[in-house]
Amino acid sequence: MSSTEKLRLGVNIDHVATVRNARGGDYPDPLRAAKIAEDAGADGITAHLREDRRHISDADIEGLMEILSVPLNFEMAATEEMQKIALRHKPHAVCIVPEKREERTTEGGLEVAREENKLAHFIAPLREAGSRVSIFIAADPRQIEAANRIGAEVIELHTGAYCDAYVEGRTEEADAELIKLRDMATFAHSLGLEVHAGHGLSYDTVSPLAALPEVRELNIGHFLIGEAIFLGLKPAIIEMRRLMDDARSE
Ligand code: PXP
Repeated sequence: MSSTEKLRLGVNIDHVATVRNARGGDYPDPLRAAKIAEDAGADGITAHLREDRRHISDADIEGLMEILSVPLNFEMAATEEMQKIALRHKPHAVCIVPEKREERTTEGGLEVAREENKLAHFIAPLREAGSRVSIFIAADPRQIEAANRIGAEVIELHTGAYCDAYVEGRTEEADAELIKLRDMATFAHSLGLEVHAGHGLSYDTVSPLAALPEVRELNIGHFLIGEAIFLGLKPAIIEMRRLMDDARSE
């Protein structure tokens, strides 16, 4: 595969809903943000409907399904309730993530290896309904092999450990995490899995990941919504896109 293959940018709009929900009203509207993201060059929109509905709501998912021109990547936990919602909407992609009520964000990857049977049954109807199923996992060969065995088409590598280790510049620890991500992207690709990555990415941390030829999509949310406060959403996304494209073409 050549490194010139296009890298997709999925913009996660969860935290537009976080700001909206801080006041309990309907402003700012995540759907409006999604349309601006499309206009800025996002290749997809990601939204995570959490069990506690702390940000994205059921109505947001319904609205996104209606108005989006680009694919929706619907993030959800492996619960019966979420499976029903996904089967009703049949989004382009479903990303299965671990979820703990007490966590502030999705702190780790899914434990696929220990739950293989259960997850294989869980994702089968989603695939039959036409959604591409992605599994959010740590850069760990056991989890990648298990994701492959259960029939996932895509894995998303959790980049949180790399981003956390990147403190005002590349650190030894960040480099070690990057090597893991690179090697696991190569491994997953060799099994025939499509490789995505995300969590905690920013202008500072995005380039080394964007340069990995096996990575086909980056999902980025919190940083972009934060940066939108200073730059506006469209310029914030355009700058991310530029950094990704530059890293890809080097
Ligand atoms: N990918 C997945 C699977 C996620 O759960 C999240 C966070 O919701 C992201 C990407 C985006 O992470 P961030 O908001 O830190 O950019």
